[in-house]
Amino acid sequence: MPAHRRSPIAASPPPRIGGPGGFAGLAAGPRTELPEDGLDGELAYQLVHDEAMLDGNARLNLATFVGTWMDRPADRLYAEAIQKNMIDKDEYPATAEIEERCGRILARLWHSPEPDRTIATSTLGSSEAGMLAGMAFKRRWQARRRAEGRPTDRPNLVLSSAAQVCWEKFANYWEVEPRYVPISEEHKTLDGHDLERYVDENTIGVVAILGVTYTGMYEPVKEIAAALDRIQAARGWDVPVHVDAASGGFVAPFLQPDLEWDFRLERVGSLKAGGHKYGLVYPGVGWVVWRTADLLPEELVFRVSYLGGDMPTFCLNFSRPGAQVLLQYYTFVRLGREGFRRLHGNSRDVARMLADGVAKLGPFELWNDGSDIPVFAYRLAPGYTDKWNLHDLSAMLRQRGWLVPSYPMPDSLTGTTVQRIVVRNGLTHDLGLKLLDSLRASVAYLDSLDGPLPHPGTVTPSFHH
Ligand SMILES: Cc1ncc(COP(=O)(O)O)c(C=O)c1O
Repeated sequence: MPAHRRSPIAASPPPRIGGPGGFAGLAAGPRTELPEDGLDGELAYQLVHDEAMLDGNARLNLATFVGTWMDRPADRLYAEAIQKNMIDKDEYPATAEIEERCGRILARLWHSPEPDRTIATSTLGSSEAGMLAGMAFKRRWQARRRAEGRPTDRPNLVLSSAAQVCWEKFANYWEVEPRYVPISEEHKTLDGHDLERYVDENTIGVVAILGVTYTGMYEPVKEIAAALDRIQAARGWDVPVHVDAASGGFVAPFLQPDLEWDFRLERVGSLKAGGHKYGLVYPGVGWVVWRTADLLPEELVFRVSYLGGDMPTFCLNFSRPGAQVLLQYYTFVRLGREGFRRLHGNSRDVARMLADGVAKLGPFELWNDGSDIPVFAYRLAPGYTDKWNLHDLSAMLRQRGWLVPSYPMPDSLTGTTVQRIVVRNGLTHDLGLKLLDSLRASVAYLDSLDGPLPHPGTVTPSFHH
């Protein structure tokens, strides 16, 4: 090994992994304490690599919305850019310029009336994007209330009970009362129904979700906006909408181009989407865009040095990886509109094929069929069996390598457990058929049991939205 490639902390020649005594270098030792001496790089790699082998297979992880596959040139770009810090705009002006370009592309894709001027920023993910959008809502509401001489101590945010946990966090961290509108069998998403019971003068905004985490369904943003128009006409409250398009923001423009959910609706003040979800990038990038620049209060914007001048930034973190932003731009130039249409169209075909297959297996009722984003959920048909439940089925599928979560629906539907399948780029038609085979075989095995499986205590596999 050339001297310059040897770990600076390795005093003696590295043991050969797999050779005589190789793995013996990985002797047992405390793993929760900083060791006194370091290991050779190869050994340290082996140690970490081996433990990570016990993780599930990311490609078979049908629980996640997050990108688990990119092509070889993307991997090469990632490896080249891994050291770049997004905040160092002056030092990495090309990356800063590319971030800016991505923001303009997205503002245009989502029909901002001023795509070249409005604020569009990358984030670590959709959660950070939601915090920023929520904060902007709160500040604008406070400024308006103060100008009217009214109190600002009881802000609330209205959203579906099936909202992702990032909104619960936002409400908690920024001291905003979350007002959850319960979903039900009749109203499977927030749809504008009954909204007047939740909205009042203290409502800083309403969140509409394009691709509900629990099921993948689109909330009808247009109907929600229309309900808010009626509330404004009746009560005078001008309540803006944020669209949490964490999953749908990179799907709807390509698969449902005529669906009006974005800045085509005037009431939509901001929206966010996960670059690392259907934006087809590895974990670590989200986007938030405001309809027009004036909707983001100036006092929330910080300026960092950039090419001798300054550049506005709005983010919670300081340092964060720049590589994912380059990868996002890569996906834009690599795929173009046609590529996104083709890849997501393919995922939707696989999701529809799987949903049809699941419906035909017998034990299941579909909650939705994967025709919004390529995600669908199903439950056990009432009275089908007392021998097993969906958690048992998840465990059986896991034995075959598939990670498919089962979880209770939110609040008013907690008695309903569903299983959800997220189809992403990389779950091919052939793999989908294999998944159906695994489902069929697992169901046959569970059905063949003599009696009910034991379910000790309340132990169920945990799953977090
Ligand atoms: C609707 C929705 N919003 C927000 C998030 C949080 O996104 P992230 O994991 O990028 O922070 C998710 C994640 O699944 C989501 O589905």
